[in-house]
This record gives sequence, structure tokens and C-alpha cells, in this order.
Amino acid sequence: MSTTLLNNGLRIPSVGLGVYKASPEDCYKTVLAALQAGYRHIDTAAVYRNEADVGRAIKESGVPRSEIWVTTKLHVGDMRNTTAAFNKSLELLQLDYVDLYLIHAPIRGRRLQSWKEMEVLYKAGKAKAIGVSNFNVEHLEELLANSTVVPAINQIELNPFLQHVDITEFCKAKGIVVQAYSPLTKARKLDDPTLVEVSKSLNKTPAQVLIKWGLQKGFVSLPKTVNPKRLVENISVFDWTIPAQDMQKLDTLECNFVTEWDPTQWGSKNETWGQWALEKVIHTFVA
Ligand SMILES: NC(=O)c1ccc[n+]([C@@H]2O[C@H](COP(=O)([O-])OP(=O)(O)OC[C@H]3O[C@@H](n4cnc5c(N)ncnc54)[C@H](OP(=O)(O)O)[C@@H]3O)[C@@H](O)[C@H]2O)c1
Repeated sequence: MSTTLLNNGLRIPSVGLGVYKASPEDCYKTVLAALQAGYRHIDTAAVYRNEADVGRAIKESGVPRSEIWVTTKLHVGDMRNTTAAFNKSLELLQLDYVDLYLIHAPIRGRRLQSWKEMEVLYKAGKAKAIGVSNFNVEHLEELLANSTVVPAINQIELNPFLQHVDITEFCKAKGIVVQAYSPLTKARKLDDPTLVEVSKSLNKTPAQVLIKWGLQKGFVSLPKTVNPKRLVENISVFDWTIPAQDMQKLDTLECNFVTEWDPTQWGSKNETWGQWALEKVIHTFVA
């Protein structure tokens, strides 16, 4: 498994297993199978409600804890109680530290206070790295101006159909590694003709090409599957490359394809009514 260097000197495995929407039983079985297949990086979140299943699988896998990278995320509804939420995640995961703790989304009026608490957790070694998710350039600039720890990671939705070039360029300039979530477009664009053409020419699957596109851009990729065959397919991406001309073809696929939510737009000029309303509801009633 190749790794990516973070700004605090740690190395994160470049492909991680996502477990969003994996049922508790599927999650347990898949994390166990993934660790046997060679994965060393699991991406969960409090809101996925499967941290306990991830923890059980890690414990029973026999793989030393020190070899596994575990990421979890602060639920937007818990941002008033960041430290308590973090401790609850640790308890569910049956761990005494996590490798990476992320703010799940940039809720206004809460994110800076949460970050301050996360800096304390980081300095105490309870989270080996801290970062954010769904932050745009404005959110990051605000954070950098008000913090002592530069986020190690910004996790955003990222694939050739949604490239967020402004955010990825900004992160690169600031030494923040970008993680690509929904790298497979939730399987909705796997039949795109250009993607299929490139995949066939390389004798790879569309899913593998999407993951590799992200890796070649320097992103950490987080494909989700609960299918044992696809688990292996999705990490068989290290001994080949996408030629430059095919990377360029894939780059032309940008079409702002958002699969679910897009909190990177919160508070921005491009925010749609729907996004504004969702943020408002979360801010007023949940967070
Ligand atoms: N920070 C955030 O706000 C955020 C938001 C969304 C996701 N994430 C993280 O990113 C991870 C991945 O994103 P995602 O779950 O939205 O979607 P994704 O990884 O883009 O796509 C998952 C879908 O693709 C299918 N699939 C997986 N491998 C395949 C393959 N080789 N060939 C064909 N189909 C394949 C899966 O079905 P099967 O399971 O049946 O194989 C599932 O339907 C999440 O699990 C989560 O950890 C973070």
C-alpha cells in the first residue's frame, strides 16, 4: 500500500476503505475482509453509526493497531461538545487514539471552537492528526487565520466529474493533503463513454481508473464497497499508471456532479437555495 506524507510527518495509506451507508453487519464483515486483503486505512464517521463495527473488526483482525489508519469525524450535531463527541467515538471504536479526526462539515459559528478543542486532542496525542471535511477556500482561510495547527487533511467530494480545482490548488499551496470522497461517483458515472474508453485502453475497470486518477493528482482516495471482489479490485491500482493524454481526457469530464450534499458551498456566493436551507436547518436545530 503506498502512502502519502502529511504536514506533521505522518504517512497515511493512499487508499482507504469508506464505510458510509454500510450496514453494521456489512461494515464489520467488510472491514475484516479489507484488513485481510491488505487495506490499512478505514474511513468512518460518528454519523455513519458504525464506529462500533469498525472497532470490533479491527480488534478481531489480528492486525496490529499501529499498522492501521483509522479516521473518524465530528458529527455536525455534536459541535457544541467536541471533546465529549470525540471520547464517545473512541469508546465505540474501542481505541485509545484515532489517526485522524475531522470536522465533518463547516458549520458556521461552530467550526472555530471545535477546531480549538481538536487542537487540544491533537497535542495530547489522542488524535495523531486533525483535519477538516467539506471546507472551501474561504473556510480554510478563516481557519488558518485563527489556529495554531494547520489541518493535515481536507476531505472533499472529488473525482473527474467534480474536481474542485480552486480548493485542491489552495490545499496544495498550504501543505494540506486532499482526500477524495465519493471517488467512484457512487457508481453513477461508471458507464461514462470517455471513462469506459480510457479504462478499456488500459485494460482496467472504470472504478480503478477513477481511483488512479485521484492518486496521480496526489489525492488520498476513499472508495467504498461491501463487495469482497471489488475490495481487491479497488486496491489493485499501484503497479500501473494512466498516461498523460488519458489524464487530460479524464480532466475534460468536469460537470460539477454532486452526488449528495455539498457543504463546500455553504456561505459562498455560489450557494444554492437548497444548500442554504440545509445549512440553516442544521445550524438552527442540530448543531
Ligand atoms: N466527508 C464527507 O462528507 C463524506 C461524504 C460521502 C462519503 N464520504 C466517505 O467516502 C467514502 C466513499 O464515498 P461514497 O460511499 O459516497 O461512494 P463511492 O465510493 O464513490 O461509491 C460507492 C458505490 O460504488 C460501488 N462500487 C464500489 N466499488 C466498485 C467497483 N469496483 N465497481 C463498481 N461499483 C463499485 C459501491 O457498491 P458496493 O458497495 O455494492 O460495491 C457503492 O454503490 C464513504 O464511504 C465515506 O467514507 C465522506
